[in-house]
Amino acid sequence: MSVPAAEDIQQETLLVHAGAPSLVDGAGPVNTPVIRTSTVRFRDTATQTAYQQLRAQGEPVATYGRHGLETHRALEQAVSSLEGGYRSFLTPSGLSAITLVLLSLLSPGDHVLVSDSVYSPIRRVDKTLLKRLGIDVEYFSVSDSTLSQKFKPNTRLLYVESPSSLLYEVLDLPELAALARARGVLVATDNTWSGGFFYKPLTLGANISIQASTKYIGGHSDLMQGIVTVDTPELFALIAPTYEALGLTVGADDAYLALRGLRTLSVRLRQHQVNALEVARYLAQHSGVSRVFYPALESDPGHRLWKRDFSGASGLISFEFSHASVQAAHTFVDALSFFGIGASWGGYESLALMAAPERLQEHSCWTGSHPVVRLHIGLESPLDLIADIKQAFDTSNQLHLA
Ligand SMILES: Cc1ncc(COP(=O)(O)O)c(C=O)c1O
Repeated sequence: MSVPAAEDIQQETLLVHAGAPSLVDGAGPVNTPVIRTSTVRFRDTATQTAYQQLRAQGEPVATYGRHGLETHRALEQAVSSLEGGYRSFLTPSGLSAITLVLLSLLSPGDHVLVSDSVYSPIRRVDKTLLKRLGIDVEYFSVSDSTLSQKFKPNTRLLYVESPSSLLYEVLDLPELAALARARGVLVATDNTWSGGFFYKPLTLGANISIQASTKYIGGHSDLMQGIVTVDTPELFALIAPTYEALGLTVGADDAYLALRGLRTLSVRLRQHQVNALEVARYLAQHSGVSRVFYPALESDPGHRLWKRDFSGASGLISFEFSHASVQAAHTFVDALSFFGIGASWGGYESLALMAAPERLQEHSCWTGSHPVVRLHIGLESPLDLIADIKQAFDTSNQLHLA
């Protein structure tokens, strides 16, 4: 049996080997070194000119420190391969990756359709930046049967996130992308939830996949970073000038951390999934819980689509209390001992966050009336996490139902 061709290798193998350094003179390190620099030096002006020309043609070479060197190229190459894309851009945060896409593709007078369950700070980008630039942002519900009529002659982009933030609404990306593509509209999606491992939006009709590598790619809660992966050279050329103009870059140490995170992404994500499913099943049968939002649960409304389009589920679960007051929900969160209280997710550790009611209201799929808590299920033993959740319910009940 021969070694599989590059396009046939399994993604676990790809994650271990993509972007690995070649051996110069027959020997070298396992990992791509951290190459920090503020500029690039050339032997002579002719070489500098040659590099500048290559860069102008879209080749992945650096002529200045902001472009990054081998560490950056290795990470870009590895994430592009994971996402099945053409090339990637590294940005200083997940939010700046989203903003890069919006600013690159939209001009004054353009219209963009955004699914209403997206990561909430996009609405801030809209209010503070896009409105000022005369860009018309329209939020839509994926269950709206008149969606096709919302496309306008000036619609340039369909922006979605699946599963969505907070309630993990699963979108029918192939159907949405077909609507957009038939009208020449580009499709961008946030793919942070899957780490690029459990979901391949570029094979389902999206043109752009965005990740906050702050989350699962980094995986250790010690990194802020974003990555934009595009499907064609034309789209790369469309985004590159805005990327340059905004002066975006990431430090070599952070590129290294993301690359290191990628090497173990498959095992971490699978374990997050095992642990989260156990916790989700526990929550689903608990009398204090009315609904659990986790697409891998058979009872989740997105389960059928998730099974069709995804190969796994990550560690994020939200649940709605069946009767608790806001105060009782706060007591529940405060009583947890293995869960940190805070935003973000995707690291090795468990976190809990009260979902802000005003954020839930943004989602047209939200029909509940009780407090919601989001849990990120980390790599602790699910037995301990479940015991912790149980005692937090008991504590909250004792204080508030007594
Ligand atoms: C789905 C999603 N996308 C993007 C982001 C933004 O990432 P960052 O915090 O790196 O800006 C977040 C952060 O929580 C997120 O949850």
